[in-house]
Amino acid sequence: PQRPLVDSFGRHVTYLRVSVTDRCDFRCTYCMGEDMVFLPKSEVLSFEEIQAVIGAFVSRGVRKVRLTGGEPLVRRDIIKLIEALSDRHLARGELDELTLTTNGSQLALHAGRLAELGIRRVNVSLDTLDGDKFRAITRRGRLPQVLDGIYAARDAGLAVKLNMVAIKNVNEEEIVPMLEWAHSEGFELTLIEEMPLGDVSFDRADTHLSLRTVRDRLAERFTLTPIAKRTGGPARYMRIEQTGGTIGFITPLSHNFCESCNRVRLTCTGQLYMCLGQEDRVDLRAALRDGGREGLDAALDRAMILKPKGHDFVIERRSAPAVGRHMSVTGG
Ligand code: GTP
Ligand code: 5AD
Ligand code: SF4
Repeated sequence: PQRPLVDSFGRHVTYLRVSVTDRCDFRCTYCMGEDMVFLPKSEVLSFEEIQAVIGAFVSRGVRKVRLTGGEPLVRRDIIKLIEALSDRHLARGELDELTLTTNGSQLALHAGRLAELGIRRVNVSLDTLDGDKFRAITRRGRLPQVLDGIYAARDAGLAVKLNMVAIKNVNEEEIVPMLEWAHSEGFELTLIEEMPLGDVSFDRADTHLSLRTVRDRLAERFTLTPIAKRTGGPARYMRIEQTGGTIGFITPLSHNFCESCNRVRLTCTGQLYMCLGQEDRVDLRAALRDGGREGLDAALDRAMILKPKGHDFVIERRSAPAVGRHMSVTGG
């Protein structure tokens, strides 16, 4: 590629996360309030703008693009965007991977087409296998619908990775059953530590669970072997002898992984954030509107200078969120 994207700490940016909408059909408790107000649609980037931004990143060496939200599959005509990206970048070998992170609610509708378009795997959020608890966590979600989506993805030939946010006193006891179920069904499982993003109605100190503790507990029961598997994402993976499957750990709090960070994130309004836990951003929508492709290129250079060494997440009693914006805005 022309001039790869390298930040001031020598890290190469090769992974772009793109939030295509801040909207979501769920209201997960750790993500947003019950009464979340979404942005007016006029503020959200058009497909043409999203494609222009992704094109600029690809020509600067980005090899992996992940669509997120909110919930990416609730954006109207999202398949048209994926068709265009698949055509333009996957078919030409310019991207190693085009994928998405979804809550699964619309997956049964779209899995087949996604597979045809060259999507090879999807990450689906699933925090519990208990229908009542699922309703309590997501406020709006229905577990059977998500399970249908997950099975439809598998039937379509997509690899499925389940993302489970570990929540103290809520789904702590379900980690082992989830693991056994996931592996018996052929899914991978990744556990995620809750992060202090956006205001929520409870104290995160009451729900935050360190994955270091979880891993130690799992190790009493299973044989865990670290493996070198790399997806380009932040998880560290282990193999579980007894199930033959893999488990990933995303541990922003108990084990910081910023040193190997290779990613930046585009919000649905065209703001580029260089870190999930920090406020510095570059307005790519303005850069595109004022300067076209050259404007974008210059903005990407500015962005690389702004990428911080890392986040400084802490979760303590009554601590304020590290950043005010919700995960659904930055896309995780
Ligand atoms: P893979 O391609 O499967 O490795 O996916 P991924 O882990 O990169 O993406 P996914 O959307 O499944 O993200 C899982 C969780 O990891 C989300 O909660 C993200 O917010 C979190 N995550 C991803 N990148 C970062 C990061 O740079 N910093 C922090 N703190 N969390 C991240
Ligand atoms: N901390 C950790 N994970 C979160 N997610 C949403 N909000 C948070 C948070 N505050 C998760 C979702 C999904 C992934 C993209 O991010 O459950 O699995
Ligand atoms: Fe929606 Fe994902 Fe946030 Fe849940 S975590 S409310 S599914 S954006």
